[in-house]
Amino acid sequence: MRMFLQLGLGFVLLAAQYASGIVVPSSQCRRQCGNVEIPYPFGIDPGCSLTQGFQLSCKVQDGIPKPFRGAFEVLDISLTQGTTRVLNYILGYCYNTSTRSMEYFGRYGGFNEGDPSSPYRLSDTQNRFTVIGCSALALISDYDGTGYQGLGVATCRNLSDLVNGSCSGMGCSQTTIPKRMYYYDTTFSASVNTSQIWEFNRCSYAVLMEAAAFKFSTTYVNTNKFNDTYNGRVPMILEWAIRDVKSCDAAKQNTTGTYACLSANSKCVDSTNDQGYTCNCTNGYAGNPYLLDGCKDVNECNHNPCPSDGYCRNIAGEYRCSCRVGKKYVTESNTCNPNIGFIIGVTMGLFGLMVIVMITIFWGQMILQKRKLNKVKQEYFRKHGGVLLFDKMKSEKGLAFNVFSEAELIHATDNFDSSRIIGKGGHGTVYKGIIKNMSVAIKRCAVVDERQKKEFGQEMLILSQINHKNVVKLLGCCLEVEVPILVYEFVLNGTLFELIHGKNQASQISFNTLLRIAHEAAEGLSFLHLYASPPIIHGDVKSSNILLDDNYMAKVSDFGASILAPSDKEQFVTMVQGTCGYLDPEYMQTCQLTDKSDVYSFGVILLEILTGQLPLKLEGSEKQRSLSLIFLSAMKENNLEAVLVNHVKGQESMELLRGLADLAKKCLDMCGDNRPSMKEVADELNRLRKLSLHPWVQLGVETEVENLLGGDTTGGYEIELSGYPMGESENQPINPRSSYYAR
Ligand SMILES: *[C@@H]1O[C@H](CO)[C@@H](O)[C@H](O)[C@H]1NC(C)=O
Ligand SMILES: *[C@@H]1O[C@H](CO)[C@@H](O)[C@H](O)[C@H]1NC(C)=O
Ligand SMILES: *[C@@H]1O[C@H](CO)[C@@H](O)[C@H](O)[C@H]1NC(C)=O
Ligand SMILES: *[C@@H]1O[C@H](CO)[C@@H](O)[C@H](O)[C@H]1NC(C)=O
Ligand SMILES: *[C@@H]1O[C@H](CO)[C@@H](O)[C@H](O)[C@H]1NC(C)=O
Ligand SMILES: *[C@@H]1O[C@H](CO)[C@@H](O)[C@H](O)[C@H]1NC(C)=O
Ligand SMILES: *[C@@H]1O[C@H](CO)[C@@H](O)[C@H](O)[C@H]1NC(C)=O
Repeated sequence: MRMFLQLGLGFVLLAAQYASGIVVPSSQCRRQCGNVEIPYPFGIDPGCSLTQGFQLSCKVQDGIPKPFRGAFEVLDISLTQGTTRVLNYILGYCYNTSTRSMEYFGRYGGFNEGDPSSPYRLSDTQNRFTVIGCSALALISDYDGTGYQGLGVATCRNLSDLVNGSCSGMGCSQTTIPKRMYYYDTTFSASVNTSQIWEFNRCSYAVLMEAAAFKFSTTYVNTNKFNDTYNGRVPMILEWAIRDVKSCDAAKQNTTGTYACLSANSKCVDSTNDQGYTCNCTNGYAGNPYLLDGCKDVNECNHNPCPSDGYCRNIAGEYRCSCRVGKKYVTESNTCNPNIGFIIGVTMGLFGLMVIVMITIFWGQMILQKRKLNKVKQEYFRKHGGVLLFDKMKSEKGLAFNVFSEAELIHATDNFDSSRIIGKGGHGTVYKGIIKNMSVAIKRCAVVDERQKKEFGQEMLILSQINHKNVVKLLGCCLEVEVPILVYEFVLNGTLFELIHGKNQASQISFNTLLRIAHEAAEGLSFLHLYASPPIIHGDVKSSNILLDDNYMAKVSDFGASILAPSDKEQFVTMVQGTCGYLDPEYMQTCQLTDKSDVYSFGVILLEILTGQLPLKLEGSEKQRSLSLIFLSAMKENNLEAVLVNHVKGQESMELLRGLADLAKKCLDMCGDNRPSMKEVADELNRLRKLSLHPWVQLGVETEVENLLGGDTTGGYEIELSGYPMGESENQPINPRSSYYAR
């Protein structure tokens, strides 16, 4: 009852398998017999093989289980090669000395699967029909199958003819067999016997065996133990395949039959020996192609197929070799070669990146710096009243006043190059600059106080509007910098100071010219005083601030500096304005700079003209140092002639000289209120000039100028700096031969 149930269950399972068209061998099937593995399609147990032909038996011999196909012990099965190695029997043919006859020895020699549907074929490539003996003639035949008949002949005279390892007829012969043999039979020729030579070769042997397992030894002539391992038997190779169809193509098209290559990643291989096919896993996979999912991915990296200095990466069915950074894998040679392109690429890439980063940083910093600078500039501009100035400039269109940028002035002066300096003094440094092909004098002021910073724009505006032929024109200013920079008209012909005190000059210049220059300067100063209220005070009137243009016309310069000078009461103590020798004594006491201070200083200039003396002398007693003191005491003693310059004495009418001396005396009055205004001074000078007019004087102006220029000019420019013991030499040339003065 129980048996019946089991059988029934088995039938149901079998039916299910065939219905799906896929035969799945049970996991209960034994896959091992002794040391031999039995892979599907082979099987030991019923229903465990693909077909009957693959059915093996597992027999225990000498206590060891061994698989058998019929009478032949199976040594191993190769799925990839489609081969089975079995042990074949050696057939002997021997002379029996006691019976004096020939007898067969050993098991009947042959192999018989008996049917072409059998999976097995005798391997024609690996097997040889091997015959041993000195008088042996053996026949191999396949009457049942192909009708093939083959002979194996081995002969020798005596054993010394035999050579170890040589199997080519002498005592040993090997014969190949044709394909498609699934049957063979062996017989020895009865006409050939060993009765004559039995003393050294009693037996002949014949066997179909694996050629690789055979190596001839002379001892084989007298034993059937060709290979000690197998004790009278030898390996033979059978090639198996699924033979019920002709080929792979047929198998794939046959819908009734079952295609044996079930596994994914498997392929069908046509049998090379007779019809049929085998299955194989595709490249990169290994396992059993006859089972579902039997082909498994091979981890090729286990045996590291890549170069020793490379890396291996296993992927499905394949592997990839890679090399370290900077090296390239070359498939053809399986080596890691230096990757020039990569190295260059990486180098270039890194370089490029670096350059980009550097440029970015550079630009970033540039922009930041620029922004910072602009902010500072704007701040200064605002502080210096630039906004106010701009508003005013907008409302008063056509104003010939410029607000220069710092960059413009830097460009104009070669970045304030020292070679461009044309004057240096307490208030700042004057540079020669070129703006729009026009020469200008650019004054960089030394100090400025907070109060004035705020009013600077306003005051610049006033100064800029001053337009008088005897006043150096202020062209513009720059407010973007900490201390404002002033840009003046460039006046190139030296100063009144040089004209009077330059070597050999005073004697050559006519008194009338000096008088004209003084008058013009007075007109300029007067204009300044009357132009605005409160009056614009020059603050540093002196002969070196009276510039001369091409036509020796006077131009009062440096008036802008006065408003830049600190006016704080405290600061006044230290920051005395003006130049020694010209200083208004009242101003020294009150620290109050007035228009009359300028009048006093102008009086000193008149003295210079009259006496040709420096306003302050180092030598002599205290009383004799100050020109004004010397003059005033001479006037008191009614001894004007003592102080007059020599060449003037005889030439000029005493009336003119006395008038001029009187004017100077008035200007030098200790009390500012008693001094005449600048306007009065100018008018008086005008009157005196008319008084002095002689016809030749007017004509002689040009002549004089010519003489002046034709003279020893270089000598004439040397300035006696010793005249300014305190170094307050505003506008004194550092390089007396600079183009500012040269012509
Ligand atoms: C099966 O594949 C293996 C390796 O993939 C190869 O060595 C073998 O020769 C193949 N067998 C047949 C019958 O093609
Ligand atoms: C020779 O033949 C006799 C009688 O058949 C037999 O007993 C004997 O074993 C044989 N000798 C050999 C060496 O086969
Ligand atoms: C062996 O061969 C010789 C001649 O070839 C023959 O005379 C003899 O009878 C044979 N002996 C046997 C036992 O067959
Ligand atoms: C083998 O035969 C050769 C030639 O007949 C002979 O010269 C030689 O002596 C023989 N050797 C033996 C061991 O019989
Ligand atoms: C051949 O080799 C065997 C051992 O493998 C040795 O006994 C025999 O003497 C050798 N024969 C010759 C002719 O060298
Ligand atoms: C005996 O057979 C084994 C396995 O087939 C083979 O490796 C060996 O070389 C053979 N020995 C000789 C002497 O032929
Ligand atoms: C199809 O397969 C069946 C069974 O496997 C076989 O009998 C039949 O001959 C095959 N047909 C062809 C066309 O090969």
